[in-house]
Amino acid sequence: MNLRFVDDLLAQMTLAEKLGQLCQVQPDGSDLEERIRAGGVGSLINVVGNDAYRYQSVAVEQSRLKIPLLIGRDVIHGFHTVFPIPLAQAASFDLQGVRAAAELAADEAGAAGVNWTFSPMVDVSRDPRWGRIAEGFGEDTLLSAQLGCAMVEGYQSRGVAACVKHFVGYGAAEGGRDYTQVAIPPRQLRDVYLPPFEAAVKAGAMTVMSGFHELDGIPASGHAELLRGVLKDEWGFDGLVVSDWNSVVEMAVHGFAATASDCARKAVDAGVDMEMASSSYMDHLPGLIERGEVSMARIDDAVWRVLSVKDKLGLFDAPYGPQRQPEPRARTDYLARQLARRSCVLLKNDAVLPLDENLKRVAVVGPLADAAADQLGCWVFDADHARTRTVLAGIRERLGDPRVVFARGLEHCRSDSDHDFPDAIAAARSADAVVLCIGEDAGLSGEAHSRAFIGLPGAQQRLLDALAATGVPVVAVVMAGRPLTLAAVVERANAVLLAWHPGSMGGPAIADLLFGESPSGRLPVSLPRSVGQLPLYYNHKNTGRPPPADARGTPSGTPLDPSGFFAGYMDEDHRPLFPFGYGLSYTRFEYSDLRLSASTVALGGDLQATATIRNAGSRSGTELVQLYVRDLVGSVTRPVKELKQYRHVVLEAGESCDVVFRLHTDELAFHGADGRRGVEPGEFRLWIAPSAEGGLEAGFDVLPDGKTAPDANER
Ligand code: NOJ
Repeated sequence: MNLRFVDDLLAQMTLAEKLGQLCQVQPDGSDLEERIRAGGVGSLINVVGNDAYRYQSVAVEQSRLKIPLLIGRDVIHGFHTVFPIPLAQAASFDLQGVRAAAELAADEAGAAGVNWTFSPMVDVSRDPRWGRIAEGFGEDTLLSAQLGCAMVEGYQSRGVAACVKHFVGYGAAEGGRDYTQVAIPPRQLRDVYLPPFEAAVKAGAMTVMSGFHELDGIPASGHAELLRGVLKDEWGFDGLVVSDWNSVVEMAVHGFAATASDCARKAVDAGVDMEMASSSYMDHLPGLIERGEVSMARIDDAVWRVLSVKDKLGLFDAPYGPQRQPEPRARTDYLARQLARRSCVLLKNDAVLPLDENLKRVAVVGPLADAAADQLGCWVFDADHARTRTVLAGIRERLGDPRVVFARGLEHCRSDSDHDFPDAIAAARSADAVVLCIGEDAGLSGEAHSRAFIGLPGAQQRLLDALAATGVPVVAVVMAGRPLTLAAVVERANAVLLAWHPGSMGGPAIADLLFGESPSGRLPVSLPRSVGQLPLYYNHKNTGRPPPADARGTPSGTPLDPSGFFAGYMDEDHRPLFPFGYGLSYTRFEYSDLRLSASTVALGGDLQATATIRNAGSRSGTELVQLYVRDLVGSVTRPVKELKQYRHVVLEAGESCDVVFRLHTDELAFHGADGRRGVEPGEFRLWIAPSAEGGLEAGFDVLPDGKTAPDANER
């Protein structure tokens, strides 16, 4: 970055030009070009293509200082090519794949004049009622941090600024509702919600977005302690903070400010550098500055941040972006198909999968079997819809039209009529297997799309039941923007593949899996049995009375053990239907022989944990081997398990390998009773496991500073 250049530029600017840089505007047909020409706009939102180029040319050719515009867009999981939704991408646990998708999305968006994406969303989220769970990476902090960094690096390596959002804690939205308050204890904020942001900032994220929500009475867009204190002062973030859409003026609706002028003062003072959509900065900052209620130093700081992001992006030299040649379509399709394949999680398989390619006939059924727009999921403004290939298309391509019979069964996911069931049943009866595509349409997740019930909408369960009653094997392919309550689906279908909203190439990717390629996706969120269990997450605390392993409520509300007063439910199992990290493949992996390099490790040192993984089935497959740790006693209580590392291994039938994890004691740090982050010596448990439940277990001790392990003679 050229600091001198930015300083010199800042020194030449009038107050109006400075304030212009702090405004992000959505074109509304008025005098926008004139405003840009006068230096009154720093950024545009929601313009692409010719419009973006036209406005950019006005800024860099006709304005006095020729300062380029930041052109922002929600490029959330692809641009023309749509990749699986971020939650699905998280199920791939594939950092390189996620990064490659971000690179490609940036190339496509960049070619349309976009130089700033409002992604990644790294809000850890443990409540699938929240429609925005689709946009993030699920319930785990480490995974969210790593995938967030992969996206940041992917976008920015291709000249598009990333925006890490929504600072901070939005994923804990009360009741899973948008725009509302979150209740997060300070230590949890530090240990669970802040780390993905910190990691992304360290990875070089150029921008951060504040949120719509409020924390402990303070709206996120006016939260000085977090924005100024933690993000800017403590972490040294020197990029720009943009508000969320109208979130500055919405602080008045929250009851945190009386007027738009108060909103502007509080937001700018808290550390929001640029205002998205609303115009309180432009309207009120001149008066606030004149009255000495906002300092010129703070304005200069905000403008400096905006200019320096523009400089880092190279916009002063190349305002229209890197102008890369678009990747050939075959490559984008290949990557989208690969990531979609890796995102699907096989939940159940009673040996019906993989389907035999030589089956005489397959019935493809369901409202999502040929629903091109719905399989893309939320936030796909710029999708090239002509590219989307559905499950029906994917299976037809494989088997040829005559061997595929299609019946929708239900007009739409939310439809409650069984009018078309007879056609679907007839199709099933004429076939050797049914592929039933059910779940949520695209309009059921994303912003302001929370749900109180997260089962299959409409008559979809009834459709499944009717098809299962034919006796023809039914493979349920579930597309959704969130974890659904799927117990009845798992009970009735012979196999269940959770495909999320898989994007443009979802159809062929699903067909690849149904006909032979072994699934490798794993759950990035716990799958609940019922809404009453929410929030539900694997890395919870133990409580003083953890439920016994076999404790299960009964529908009548009588606990299994009537004498047991434990932290479960009387009328529901306390455990998820499927745990975090879970997923089947077409083979079986055996874990054995867990060994540690030592039973103790000195603070600052590392420990090696090794297990042997064997493909004990008859097909090749990919296993995600996971390392979890528990700190047994701390100055504050610690979660029952935390994911620390993971690794994919690809094994042929009968093959085995040793998987070695090197765990550094720094990975055991948390915020203790004194509020400081550190590692507390003591006893730990460790698991090498196929999911957050089960696996091989061992113990080790972390020794206090200066101590080393006793040698053999001393023991
Ligand atoms: C509101 C959403 O909360 C945010 O994530 C998005 O980037 C902005 N609108 C811009 O569309």
